[in-house]
Amino acid sequence: MKTLCDTTLTALITGAGSGIGAALAKSLGSAGMRVVVSDLNLQAAEQVAGELQELGCLAETLELDVTQQRQIDAVADYHTPIDILINNAGLQHVARLEAFPPEQWRLLIEVLLVGPAMLARAVLPSMKQNNFGRIINIGSIHALVASPFKSAYVAAKHGILGFSKALALETAEFDVTVNTLCPSYVKTPLVEHQIAQQAQEHGMSEDEVINKIMLEPMPKKSFIDMDELAGTIDYLISDAAKNVTGQSIVLDGGWTAR
Ligand SMILES: NC(=O)c1ccc[n+]([C@@H]2O[C@H](COP(=O)([O-])OP(=O)(O)OC[C@H]3O[C@@H](n4cnc5c(N)ncnc54)[C@H](O)[C@@H]3O)[C@@H](O)[C@H]2O)c1
Repeated sequence: MKTLCDTTLTALITGAGSGIGAALAKSLGSAGMRVVVSDLNLQAAEQVAGELQELGCLAETLELDVTQQRQIDAVADYHTPIDILINNAGLQHVARLEAFPPEQWRLLIEVLLVGPAMLARAVLPSMKQNNFGRIINIGSIHALVASPFKSAYVAAKHGILGFSKALALETAEFDVTVNTLCPSYVKTPLVEHQIAQQAQEHGMSEDEVINKIMLEPMPKKSFIDMDELAGTIDYLISDAAKNVTGQSIVLDGGWTAR
């Protein structure tokens, strides 16, 4: 049986070549974990893993497109069992439904919902065998509330909550937990791109999108920092959270308190 203090845990992070995934890779790597920095974009993953290795951290690179079942299945036979899976890979598309390309709508569901489920499926047998596992999905405030022009994203993120609850029940007899972080906006390339898209869609300036759309629903009026996400992940991995499962951990500056 694995315990947090006597074993080097291995964490696989998807979409770790950028934004939140890259920040979490750095945080977990600095905490002494072996980090598998995976991404569709191999070069980006190599860059992040390289930075970690320079700091003396245990980091490996894996080219992993979470829409590719064969690549996902290969994770089950990874040379070291995955103790912590962080389903983070993501993308956004902002358009009203009638203008939403059908293949793009389907892609968002594949990346944000089907991929995480299939990856969990791949790593669960070894987690159960070791009686230890942490599956953490990076959801979103859009797992709980909706915004216009984001129907695919909102549908997928709401779906991941239902999926996580079902899986939490299925894994309850083991020291395996399944949880979803629900942050509101975090300044990453994904959001920078969205600011431009939303400005066009709403006929606003980019500053107006930040203040009137993104920060407006948040009483605290601030983007969520990477340190807040990293600290929450540390907690979810710890023994103190071994009975926290099937939950949404909401970092939303008070958005959903209204
Ligand atoms: N930035 C925010 O404000 C915010 C808020 C809430 C939730 N999130 C969620 O956090 C996660 C990370 O977002 P981010 O803001 O860091 O975005 P980002 O664009 O900076 O990074 C996303 C990464 O996912 C990778 N990716 C995309 N499609 C992939 C695929 N098919 N397979 C593997 N990797 C793939 C990209 O190559 C990229 O490296 C996403 O799930 C997103 O929905 C972000």
